[in-house]
Amino acid sequence: MEQYIIKGGNPLVGEVDISGAKNAALGILAAAIMTDDTVLIENLPDVRDINVMLEAMTDIGVKVERITRHAALMNSSAIGGVSVDYEFIKKIRASYYLIGALLGKYKRAEVPLPGGCNIGSRPIDLHLKGFKALGAKVTIRNGSICAEAETLRGSHIYLDTVSVGATINIMMAATMAEGRTIIENCAREPHVVDVANFLNSMGANIKGAGTDVIRIRGVERLHATEYSIIPDQIEAGTFMFAAAATKGDIMVKNVIPKHLEATTAKLLELGCEVEEFDNAVRVVASRRLNCTNVKTLPYPGYPTDMQPQIGVALALASGTSIVTESIFENRFKYMDELARMGAVSKVEGNTAIITGVDRLTGARVSAPDLRAGAALVIAGLAAEGVTVVDDIVYIQRGYECFDEKLQSLGAEIEKINSEKEAQKFKLRIG
Ligand code: UD1
Repeated sequence: MEQYIIKGGNPLVGEVDISGAKNAALGILAAAIMTDDTVLIENLPDVRDINVMLEAMTDIGVKVERITRHAALMNSSAIGGVSVDYEFIKKIRASYYLIGALLGKYKRAEVPLPGGCNIGSRPIDLHLKGFKALGAKVTIRNGSICAEAETLRGSHIYLDTVSVGATINIMMAATMAEGRTIIENCAREPHVVDVANFLNSMGANIKGAGTDVIRIRGVERLHATEYSIIPDQIEAGTFMFAAAATKGDIMVKNVIPKHLEATTAKLLELGCEVEEFDNAVRVVASRRLNCTNVKTLPYPGYPTDMQPQIGVALALASGTSIVTESIFENRFKYMDELARMGAVSKVEGNTAIITGVDRLTGARVSAPDLRAGAALVIAGLAAEGVTVVDDIVYIQRGYECFDEKLQSLGAEIEKINSEKEAQKFKLRIG
């Protein structure tokens, strides 16, 4: 099992290029099957979730040609079945986007129910409510969601909770439905907008993405397109917090600063300097961080996917901070790992009270999920001594070349596969 080994203590300094947004790419790849023409998708991140999604799509008959590391041509004219294999859905929940895309195009989809997830219960009732409102019959058979309709008809749908997945999935299913669909209380995340822009570039008629009401006028067919995915705001934010926690100076390049506003606002409260450019942000942390409070919210609020990263920074800040997680109920497991590095916190329900310490010390920790895993790497980079992070397969789901990008900023981090490699690293760093 691969691990990261880290010798902490170096401020991270330099420039880093951000990859395409994983969560936008997952929606866009699914949406790409809705045309029989060939589409070109650029700025695809080369991360595990995307590669598994492409395998799932190949498995149902989509022809995928990866023309470069970050671009793929896709043709879905010869899709052989509408039934997605459980092997894929258990690895990436977001393969549920194939329900909306297949149902929208073929009026039929069969996709296994996504399994449990380690950040809390993640129901998909709102996705199903939307499909039903469009006229689909939705049943659960042998562990799979089977959705089918003679015709899909536009409808007025109100989402009880703001959900990124439900917004994107229903939007896809409604794209080729007859008539007009209105979705209210939509998620406004940049990747919702990106998937809508992608569908519109194929001839869809979607208005209002980025606001809480999306209006869709169904079209009969979608056509070829060439599309470049937006930069990943969570990867960008992770590097911004790496600068903050290590008292570094990082120019985070290839980003849309507007998408980073909630993260930037918190970094300013922590006492960092943040300079915005057209498509870059520079974060400089020259002194000990201030404490602050933060509550995760749907966009444009502070993202839940950036909660562990700020948690690590606050563990090193002066004073006591309160972090409230309002999206997922089980997203503080990393606090137990951080405690092994000397952090002081108390978790009560969806709140963590963190009392900053002067320093963290290296320890062996385990990544509980994707973002918490990245946050523990940041903790290791800020800590004194050597940290080993287990279960980095979670981190590889969503961060392209995480170790290499960090090395280019001066981090002493290596991917290792054995105790022997760990010893070699320790000998080399002395
Ligand atoms: C997406 C992101 C994930 C991020 C999350 C919140 C992708 C692939 N993943 O996940 O990284 O952490 O948004 O920004 O884009 N809910 C229901 N019923 C539903 C659907 C959701 O009750 O049918 C609830 C969830 O339990 C949660 C809240 O709605 O409390 C938000 O979840 P949602 O926005 O749907 O998250 P995902 O789309 O799964």
